[in-house]
Amino acid sequence: MKKPIRVAVTGSAGQIGYSLLFPIANGDMLGKDQPVILQLVELPVAMKGLEGVALELEDCSFPQLAGIELADNPNDGFRNADVVMLVGAKPRGPGQDRSDLIRENGGIFTVQGDAIDANAAEDVKVIVVGNPCNTNALIAASRARRTNKANYTAMTRLDQNRATGQLARKLGVVPGDVRDVYIWGNHSDTMVPDISQGTVNGKAISGLVEADWLGGAFDKTVRTRGKAIIEARGKSSAASAAFAAINHIHDWYLGTGANRYVSMAVPSDGAYGIPEGLIYSFPCRITAPWQYEIVRDLPVDAATKARRDASTAELVAEREAVAHML
Ligand code: NAD
Ligand code: LMR
Repeated sequence: MKKPIRVAVTGSAGQIGYSLLFPIANGDMLGKDQPVILQLVELPVAMKGLEGVALELEDCSFPQLAGIELADNPNDGFRNADVVMLVGAKPRGPGQDRSDLIRENGGIFTVQGDAIDANAAEDVKVIVVGNPCNTNALIAASRARRTNKANYTAMTRLDQNRATGQLARKLGVVPGDVRDVYIWGNHSDTMVPDISQGTVNGKAISGLVEADWLGGAFDKTVRTRGKAIIEARGKSSAASAAFAAINHIHDWYLGTGANRYVSMAVPSDGAYGIPEGLIYSFPCRITAPWQYEIVRDLPVDAATKARRDASTAELVAEREAVAHML
């Protein structure tokens, strides 16, 4: 038997948690032949509900689920974890921006960042889903001393998936035919969906759809989809968010192939002039397990560059707002 991979998930009794844990246990994230131990982390007040989720996980008899551990605190919850998925945080309500959550949610990530660094595997891989996810990941990464800051990431894969879905609908193809569309910047309304390298069945997307639609309805739909879902459902996206988190970790571990691009918000190393350390969404590729690489030197037109700079400025402002937590 392969050594089990330990996956810790915060907010396990929440809406995203309920859509996330079962596919992880089913091998959709790390591979069908990879044993997994789930470390489910919740607030003390939510432990009763979490026990119910654990009973349901047991009842599925997932072939490679090697253990389920419950914790009401992050130190126990992150012990020896190989992967930590930071989902537990307050979602925004109607009329709020994601950045309005900084004050309420930011403190969670100081405590959890410390707990990861003290308890998780030294080469732990972290994805932050809880909003505002880029800046929450920045807070958690700032506590890393023993663990590797480069492994603290945030999720913009949902935005990429949304963009891909919109393009597929427009072009009358299935989403699997659409490749290499990606997102720059913050998981916020300033994000920049970029189709410049994208293809559909080998043809450049730029030659297949009108520029007006790309710069208008497409762009707006992708940037504001989270809000549209909250308005329609009364609650924020959950199943699609869980699916995107699975995609993010799946590709980070199992790879994208040499010529594919996926969106990951990762600590900038100065690529494209983005200030070092900001958690910024870049096109990335993964050709070896757990080794993402920012795709460099992609051509970017002046308008895209200006919008990318605006997203950078927003992230710099968010960093200033949480300076006391870093
Ligand atoms: P939810 O309220 O249904 O569940 C959150 C869960 O987290 C609750 O069970 C709560 O008890 C738990 N929790 C809160 N603080 C915790 C802590 N300190 N430790 C452990 N658990 C804790 O919310 P949800 O719909 O699952 O959304 C969770 C977060 O994900 C929100 O911040 C939301 O905005 C964000 N989100 C991000 C994306 C993205 O694309 N990055 C997409 C969707 C949602
Ligand atoms: C999303 O994009 O659906 C999430 O970030 C939830 C939100 O607040 O929009």
